[in-house]
Amino acid sequence: FRKAANHTSICSQQAQVVFIMTGKIYSASTTAPVNIATLKYWGKRDTKLNLPTNSSISVTLSQDDLRTLTTASAAEFFESDKLWLNGKEESVEGQRLVACLSELRSLRKALEDTNPELPPLSKYHLHIVSENDFPTAAGLASSAAGFAAFVRAIANLYDLHQSPEDLSRIARQGSGSACRSLFGGYVAWEMGQEADGSDSRAVQIATQEAWPDMKATILVISASKKETSSTVGMQTTVNTSTLFKYRAEVVVPQRFKEMSQAIVNKDFETFGRLTMIDSNQFHAVCLDSSPPVFYMNDTSRLVIGLIEKVNKIHDRVVAAYTFDAGPNAVLYYLEKDEPIVLGLLKAAVPEVDGWDKKSYTASIAPAVPEGVD
Ligand code: ADP
Ligand code: DP6
Ligand code: CO
Repeated sequence: FRKAANHTSICSQQAQVVFIMTGKIYSASTTAPVNIATLKYWGKRDTKLNLPTNSSISVTLSQDDLRTLTTASAAEFFESDKLWLNGKEESVEGQRLVACLSELRSLRKALEDTNPELPPLSKYHLHIVSENDFPTAAGLASSAAGFAAFVRAIANLYDLHQSPEDLSRIARQGSGSACRSLFGGYVAWEMGQEADGSDSRAVQIATQEAWPDMKATILVISASKKETSSTVGMQTTVNTSTLFKYRAEVVVPQRFKEMSQAIVNKDFETFGRLTMIDSNQFHAVCLDSSPPVFYMNDTSRLVIGLIEKVNKIHDRVVAAYTFDAGPNAVLYYLEKDEPIVLGLLKAAVPEVDGWDKKSYTASIAPAVPEGVD
């Protein structure tokens, strides 16, 4: 098995407990990257299975700066399932965590049924320890990296050999955007048609190698936890926005085709233009919700203004901005234009209140590694 350690308590006064507690801990660790959507997922047609109202597209960022690191352990003596996120214990009762866990456990159970020599990990409780090295719940896709790592760490622990596409179907039930973090490069989440979600999964549109000179800079305008989670925000939109139906049914299907094609053609002009208008439309349907949902702030809007200006001056799309459910800006651009983009930000952004001068510059992730040793 991947890693097995003998666990013995060092507390001598708990000798009896030591005897009971002595046993093997099986564990596996993995990292997962964030992905930032360029065609946004916003809305569920099934909140239990996390089935979206539209297909979406994203780019997976390299793990050098932003990643989740998760270790999953199982032992016969663990008394309950437990999860620690960024050093703090969190509940594992949530429907999404339970959905992922029970699917992974039944896959392990099937493996044990056909291979009786395997340790019965499906019967053991799990301890999961996870850490994001970037702000959590701030609109930087922590739920995407977080649930992708969660699913992959347990799949590795259980020695499952499900394909990334199969794992993406499980991760989707944790957080929709997580299904796209199982792949590197340029990724689509196809919404699917089936009521059971069997065809709602991520697929790769293009590898990182196919379009390697794309880069992203992430401006952390605020690292604070957002007021309205993505889950709550998008259901408010689905239930109340009249513009939303038009976006999901008319705009996105066409945009999905155009953006996929632009990626395959390495057509940055079209890719960038579509990315910006899609971010703006997503924030427009948030504003059209009741009560309205605000994710961007004045600094976000200042960045939009700067990028619009630089694109106008150069008479082409030098950089494309996009904002997830939070105020933080993600800029996509081609490597050759990095001096223009970073120079502009250095010159203009420090003057802005609330800017904490924290930013990441990332390249695009190649294939997502399966585990870490
Ligand atoms: P974000 O914009 O960061 O994705 P969301 O509102 O979509 O914000 O989701 C944030 C939630 O995702 C957190 O409150 C937590 O429940 C979950 N989450 C974030 N990181 C992890 C992780 N590493 N492991 C498990 N769950 C995570
Ligand atoms: C704006 O995947 O975080 O980032 O499925 O409820 O967990 P849940 O929502 P989540 O929503 C992401 C919304 C978005 C756009 C996107 O990533 O496509
Ligand atoms: Co999220």
